[in-house]
Order: sequence, then structure tokens, then C-alpha cells
Amino acid sequence: DDIPVITIDGPTASGKGTLASEVAKALGYHLLDSGSLYRATALAALRQSVPADDEEGVARLATALSLRFDDHRIELDGQDVTEELRREDVGLLASRVSAHARVRDALRELQLSFRRLPGLVADGRDMGTVIFPQAALKVFLTASAATRAERRHKQLISKGFSANISDLRQDLEARDARDRSRSAAPMKPAEDAVSLDNSALSIEESVQQVLAWWKQRQ
Ligand code: C5P
Repeated sequence: DDIPVITIDGPTASGKGTLASEVAKALGYHLLDSGSLYRATALAALRQSVPADDEEGVARLATALSLRFDDHRIELDGQDVTEELRREDVGLLASRVSAHARVRDALRELQLSFRRLPGLVADGRDMGTVIFPQAALKVFLTASAATRAERRHKQLISKGFSANISDLRQDLEARDARDRSRSAAPMKPAEDAVSLDNSALSIEESVQQVLAWWKQRQ
């Protein structure tokens, strides 16, 4: 069928979320922030005291997740958890639960259901390799670890959280190493992905590059 999909994969704090949301806005497409599903699963596990290494238990939670998406806000069990999902500890826990194949399977259908007309922009780690292998444009977005740690730091400070750049850099490098080395859907560029290093680009420049690639493919 012909519902267009653009995938944006890449490491932590590379700016995938912002880029995906700006590209979706420019094209009038739907948006899937797949990381938020792993984060919601992690938060549910935290709340119900299911240990991250209990694959079966976490997969059961993921299957039964009661999520509502509404205008860039997310509700879990009827409660707005948008801010809570962005917490650093939730992100780290998400990277642990996301390593389980059964957890990934449990979230697959939900991710596919975001593909609706007029089109979808999906960001994550395996959007182009596993979930939407047919996507017409696959971007692998990177930035240096220093740049990413700085951006994450700014983000946290602006939200009133305190944070230390070298701790953040360590956390994100640990998370990326785990995401790259796991056997279930490891983070890697799809064979037909185009790479974009945005360390020295503004958000607007990155958006324009992706839109230009998209135009070439029409
Ligand atoms: O992108 P974000 O930081 O929100 O993702 C949180 C964690 O969820 C990542 O570190 C990664 O382990 C996991 N994830 C994944 N596959 C995706 C999206 C996120 O494994 N498609």
C-alpha cells in the first residue's frame, strides 16, 4: 500500500525527537515517538515493582499498556505522564526493558497502528530496520557524544532539573552501547539509510535536509 513513512533512527539525544516532530509538522504527517512506548513500559514496571530483567513480566505489562496519545501528550492509565517519561532514570530503565525480544514483540502492533494517512514520521532505534522496513526515506541521525550530552544538559536545566554533563555523557554512552550490542533489534543504520550528523547543524538546517531528501524521493 502507499501510506508514506519516514524513519529517523539514531542514538540518545541526537535530536531525533525534535527533527521527527518538525518534519511531521511540515508535511502534515502523524508522529510516532517509539521511545515513549519503551519509556511507558519502564514506568509501568517501576510502578508495579516488576524487575527489569523479568522478561515475561515486563512483556505482560507492555501488552496490557493502557496508553492515550493526544496532541504530544501521553496518558498512562488515565494519568498524564508526559513529563515523567522524560526522566533520566526512566530512559535508562527503558533501555534495559527494551533489550527483551518479547517486550519488543509486545509493542510491535501498537507501533504499526501509527501508520495512517496522510503519512507517518517515526523515530527510534529500529524504525527503519525492523518496524517499517518498507519506509521510503530512512535517516540515521548522529551527533558527537559531547554535543549530545550538552543538549541533554540544556534540556534538563530548562525543565528545572539539575544535571551534570559528564554524568549525562556517561549515561548516554552506556545506553547507546547497550542499544547497539543487544541481540534483539540492535540500533544500527538500515542498509538503505542516509546518515546525517547534525553536530554542527541547526534544527532548521536538519529539517530542510530531510525535506530535500523526501522531495527527491517523490
Ligand atoms: O529515544 P528514547 O531515549 O526515548 O528511548 C529510550 C530507550 O528505549 C532507548 O535507550 C532504547 O533502549 C529504547 N528504544 C528502543 N527502540 C526504539 C526506541 C527506543 O529500543 N525504537
